[in-house]
Amino acid sequence: MADRPYTLLSCGMSIDGYLDSAGPSRLRLSNEADFDRVDAVRARCDAILVGAATVRSDDPRLLVRSAARRAERVASGRPPSPAKVTLTRRGDLSPTAAFFTAGDSDRLVYCPTGAAGELRQRLGGAATVVDTGARGDIPVRTISEDLSARGVDRLMVEGGGTVLTQFLTADLADELHLVVAPLFVGDSRAPRLVGDGCFPWHAGRRAPLVGVRQIGDVVLLRYALSDRFSDEHPDGER
Ligand SMILES: NC(=O)c1ccc[n+]([C@@H]2O[C@H](COP(=O)([O-])OP(=O)(O)OC[C@H]3O[C@@H](n4cnc5c(N)ncnc54)[C@H](OP(=O)(O)O)[C@@H]3O)[C@@H](O)[C@H]2O)c1
Repeated sequence: MADRPYTLLSCGMSIDGYLDSAGPSRLRLSNEADFDRVDAVRARCDAILVGAATVRSDDPRLLVRSAARRAERVASGRPPSPAKVTLTRRGDLSPTAAFFTAGDSDRLVYCPTGAAGELRQRLGGAATVVDTGARGDIPVRTISEDLSARGVDRLMVEGGGTVLTQFLTADLADELHLVVAPLFVGDSRAPRLVGDGCFPWHAGRRAPLVGVRQIGDVVLLRYALSDRFSDEHPDGER
């Protein structure tokens, strides 16, 4: 088994590179056809990872929506939806979040040593809290390798920007699905696609663009980010 899962980053952004608005309500960047494509991508993964800020702000369910896709997974011996994974430093997660209450997928919460005890108490049996032994920030490679040891072969990382930045700068991403929505946010308080960092793809090393697809009013860009990239689903419905 590889030491880390095949890792696909998937997100949508505005034309000016924002993942959301600066306001409290979630900005709808994509359209129904693209949400369905993302659903197909989810259905092919073993686990979906989002940052704790996304769990708090968007309250995502992170389930496969299509009954047919869930049935297909079950027929092949897998649970109806992938496992859900998040990471937190502070441990500020509520057991009432849809991450914990929706569906019956396995749920994993990675945290540093200092937060593990209290978080286990707060979440009760709603999730497996993994004490990574880290003192502060958890290296995302640690999470990646632990997921691999738990049998996760395909990991989908859906954001937000803090998490995407770390998977990219740690060179742990095999593929990027980037959807560009036809709108501007125009507010620097809003979360950006990525933060500062030393990225493996830059002016001297351009990421291979392996697909461009218009989906209604959005466009899907697919980049191959490692030599493990495999093109089984060239339409992006990986
Ligand atoms: N457009 C899209 O496709 C898309 C997708 C997902 C999210 N979003 C948007 O993105 C925004 C949130 O993004 P964000 O960048 O602010 O946050 P994020 O990446 O969702 O989560 C960041 C949080 O994750 C935890 N974390 C991150 N790295 C960690 C590490 N190495 N070790 C331990 N914990 C770590 C920390 O949680 P604690 O604070 O609990 O310590 C941190 O505050 C929301 O507005 C959401 O709507 C958009």
